[in-house]
Amino acid sequence: MPHYQSRGSIPRKRHVAFRDDQGRLMAEELVSTEGFSSIYSLVYHLYPPTMIAAFEPPTDLSPKIAVENNIAPRSFRGFRLPPADDYLAARTPVLVNDDVCLSLAAPTRGLNDCFYKNASHDELLFIHQGNGTLFTGYGELRFSPGDYVHIPRGVIYQIAFDTPENRLFIIESPSPIAFPKKYLNRYGQLEEHAPFCERDLRTPQNLRTYDQKGNFLIKIKKNHRLWPFVYASHPFDFLGWDGCFYPYVFSIHDFEPITGRIHQPPPVHQNFEARNFVVCSFVPRLFDYHPDAIVVPYNHSNVDSDEVLYYVDGEFMSRKHVERGQITLHPIGIPHGPHPGAVERSFGQKQTQEIAVMVDTFRPLRLTQAALSLEDPDYFRSWLE
Ligand SMILES: [Fe+2]
Repeated sequence: MPHYQSRGSIPRKRHVAFRDDQGRLMAEELVSTEGFSSIYSLVYHLYPPTMIAAFEPPTDLSPKIAVENNIAPRSFRGFRLPPADDYLAARTPVLVNDDVCLSLAAPTRGLNDCFYKNASHDELLFIHQGNGTLFTGYGELRFSPGDYVHIPRGVIYQIAFDTPENRLFIIESPSPIAFPKKYLNRYGQLEEHAPFCERDLRTPQNLRTYDQKGNFLIKIKKNHRLWPFVYASHPFDFLGWDGCFYPYVFSIHDFEPITGRIHQPPPVHQNFEARNFVVCSFVPRLFDYHPDAIVVPYNHSNVDSDEVLYYVDGEFMSRKHVERGQITLHPIGIPHGPHPGAVERSFGQKQTQEIAVMVDTFRPLRLTQAALSLEDPDYFRSWLE
């Protein structure tokens, strides 16, 4: 996130002695990315962030791959994933490659008896159902349905849900998840033509400084291994921080759709990008207004991207038998398009209420065993009259 923020108490100059009101010297930590060449923050801890007391062997979280080379259109009923109590165990990878891991989760509880850090991947939690709070050293972030909760790698967090009925679609990326470069001016500000702006971002609030020593369990995920680490000080001991590296929330309901006289291509819906994939947001919008416009998407040969759609809400004009939480995968090499009757049904329609998240990957996705357990096996036949 390339926009400067500051919370709590920080010294007037960086890299100088800084004491709290009891005269204790603070431990400064530079949190930097791409070595020292990209966004960073400076954090002021009560205790050094280095006090490892113990660590144990990891748990293997590698996705169990069932289909290495997929060629067929696929559909998965995401809401059939059974709920699970443990927030970390609930996260179930369904579609993966070396650039991205897409998971579903229905956690009935948050994470409050330990802390969690993804050390190797940025996390984008799309909140489909549920309200709650993300707790970090940088501050707190409230979330509700439709929110993308962006957690850069390295941020230690806990999460709390208000009720047990929660549904998440999780995007994990080993490369930074950022706003599309096409929306940014040369100073990094979102341009006027972008479908959202800085005012739409919700940044950490209510910084609380935890002055505690003891044994604090942080489960650290690194490349599909989960390592239990015990630290000797509370991870949320920030007296203050400033910089451009921090978690934030963006609501899909704040995405302002770009519409036109004839059909607009999917890139107008782009919301995020990372190495070898993009994330797009489809939101309620007026349909195309040329008198002869066909408002549903044309048939489409995705020559070099796997297309994943996660259906959130509303009517999906171009599809039949779509339900909330469903995922479709239209792979490289196989054309897809509107279902039979969809074009005819669309004439005279003025608007759509659909909400969906799309992930286009530029390299093929593998399917996990969990994905197959949710699959609608006849989907590939669904374009037959
Ligand atoms: Fe497409």
